[in-house]
Amino acid sequence: MSSPALSPMPSNLPSSEPAAPKRDAQFVRVAETQREPLSFFIDGHEVTALQGDTLLTAVLMHQRHVRESEFSGAPRAGFCLIGACQDCWMRTEEGMRLRACSTLVTQGMRVVTRLAEVTSLVAPVVASAAIANGDIE
Ligand code: FES
Repeated sequence: MSSPALSPMPSNLPSSEPAAPKRDAQFVRVAETQREPLSFFIDGHEVTALQGDTLLTAVLMHQRHVRESEFSGAPRAGFCLIGACQDCWMRTEEGMRLRACSTLVTQGMRVVTRLAEVTSLVAPVVASAAIANGDIE
């Protein structure tokens, strides 16, 4: 007696093959590939994402980290993906902090991931705030 033939497992993946993964990317997009594209900037380099991507997803589609730790300099890429661990904080070129896993990427957004660039952005902002508060002259 032969065993019954197994039917293929149903899939919710798109019928077309996803694009080949980028060599240095942490994430690979396997679904929802038809959303509208947009462009944004990582460390001054223009890259693409899809409408509705979180900033974390958008950045990790291009590289393996979203920032460098201000304590050790080690690369960080988020952990929980749900806004609980605080591991995915990033900065915009203007120095604004964003939690990447709970912020949607937007057209033209400019973020930095390298500690040296963040330090050069944040120090003047902190100094300006201290001057405005009368803490320093
Ligand atoms: S990945 Fe944990 S808070 Fe964003």
